[in-house]
Amino acid sequence: MLNFKNSPYSLEELEKHQAKITAIHTSMEARTSLGAEYLGWLKAASTFEEKELKRLIQLASKIREEADLLVVAGIGGSYLGADALIQALKPTFGQDKPQILFCGNNLSAAYMEELLAYLEGKCFYVNVISKSGRTVETALAFRFLKKELTKRYGQEAGRYIIATTDAKSGALRRQVEEEGYKSFVVPQDIGGRYSVMSPVGLFPMAVAGLDVKGFLAGMTQAEKDFSSPKLEENAAYRYALTRRLLYKKGKIMEILVTYEPALEKFAEWYKQLFGESEGKEEGGIFPVAVANTTDLHSMGQIIQDGPKIFFETVVDLSKPSSLVLPEVKAEDDLDYLQGQKISGMTKKALLATLIAHEEAGVSNLLIEMESYSEESLGYLMYFMMRACAMSAYLGGVNPFDQPGVEAYKNNMLALLGNPNYKKYKADIEKKLREKNLV
Ligand code: PA5
Repeated sequence: MLNFKNSPYSLEELEKHQAKITAIHTSMEARTSLGAEYLGWLKAASTFEEKELKRLIQLASKIREEADLLVVAGIGGSYLGADALIQALKPTFGQDKPQILFCGNNLSAAYMEELLAYLEGKCFYVNVISKSGRTVETALAFRFLKKELTKRYGQEAGRYIIATTDAKSGALRRQVEEEGYKSFVVPQDIGGRYSVMSPVGLFPMAVAGLDVKGFLAGMTQAEKDFSSPKLEENAAYRYALTRRLLYKKGKIMEILVTYEPALEKFAEWYKQLFGESEGKEEGGIFPVAVANTTDLHSMGQIIQDGPKIFFETVVDLSKPSSLVLPEVKAEDDLDYLQGQKISGMTKKALLATLIAHEEAGVSNLLIEMESYSEESLGYLMYFMMRACAMSAYLGGVNPFDQPGVEAYKNNMLALLGNPNYKKYKADIEKKLREKNLV
C-alpha cells in the first residue's frame, strides 16, 4: 500500500544504526520507553471495541438523517485528524449534508460570530472534543453553541450535544454526568495528536459519511506491516532514521510536499504530529508544508535556491481521476498535451520537481501510495505516527508530552484574569509595559 523511496542513505548505511532502532522498538513494545503510558495508539485500531463502533456509527447515521450540520469544537489533536480526513475524502465542491464545521480551534471573535450567523435556521448538532476538558478555546466555543441550542430547545438542548472526552476526569466529563449528554471516550493511554483512530477522529468522520471501518482496517494493516524492528522490513523506521540522519547534517526543516489540494489539511495534521512530538529541549526538525503545484509558484524559488537547511518529503497520493485534456483550439502551445491524462501530468510535475530540487542539494524522500481511500489514508497516518514516535525517540525526547505549550497558556490565563494564575499577572503586565505593548 505504501513505498518509501529515494532515501539518500542505502539500506546498508541505515543498518549501521539497527541496534539503536531495535533497542527503541523493544522498549516501545515492552512499554518501558519514555512516555510509554501514551502508547495505546499502537494497537488501538485493531482493538477498537465492536460494540462501541456500532454505537458510534448508529448515532452518526441518526445525525446524518436529521441534521444540516455537525459543529465540531476542538483544537490541536482534538480536531486536526478529522478535519484532514474529511477534506481529503469528501468532494471539494458542494458537500452533501450534513456539512461538518470546525470551531474552538482559534480565538477569533469574527469567526465565532460568522459561525453563529451561519447556524441560523439550520439544524445542527455539536460534538465537543477535549481530552483534558479544560482547553480554553474549545470551552469558549462550546459555551456559544450551548447557548444557541438552549435558546432553541430549552431543557432539550442536551439532545444535540455529543461530548468526546476522558472516561473519568475533567470538566467536560463532569458536564456529561450533570447534563446527561451522549458521550464517547478518548482512551487514557492515547494523546491528542495520536487519537485519530479513536472517537475523536471517527465520530466526525462517520457523521460525514466516511467509511470508518475501512479507515480502521487500513490502520490495522499498518499495525502489522510496521511491527518489525528490522529496518529492512519497516519503512516507517527507515523514514524516521533518514530524517534524523539528515537533521544531523544540518537539515533542520522538513517540508511535506503534496500535489493534491484535498491534502492540505493532512499536512496540518502532519505538522502538529511531528512538531509537538519532536520539538523539545531546543532540538527537533521543524515541520512545514507546501501544496504543489500551487506553491511551486510561491515557495519554489526559495526551496530551489534558498539556504540548504531543509529536506523534502513528497507524498505521492492523488485522488483518482481519469480526466483527459480535451481538444480545444487555443494559442497556448499546449496541443502536444491533448488527449493526455491530467494525473499523468501531475506525476511528471512531481518527478521533474524532485530532480530539480535534488540537483540543488535538497534531498527528496518519496512516500508513494498505491490508492486513495479511507483505508490507504489510515495506513499512511499510522505509518506517520510510527515514524514520528521513532524519530522523537532517536532525538532522545518523549514523543507524547508537550511541555512547551504551557508557557503561553500560563501567560494567557494570567492576563485573562484566571484566579489560579493571579501570581503571574503583575509580572507579565510589567514586562508588557516595559516593551510598550500595553
Ligand atoms: O496533541 C495534543 O495532545 C494536543 O494538541 C491536544 O490535542 C490539544 O491541546 C487539545 O487538548 P484537549 O483535547 O485536552 O482539549
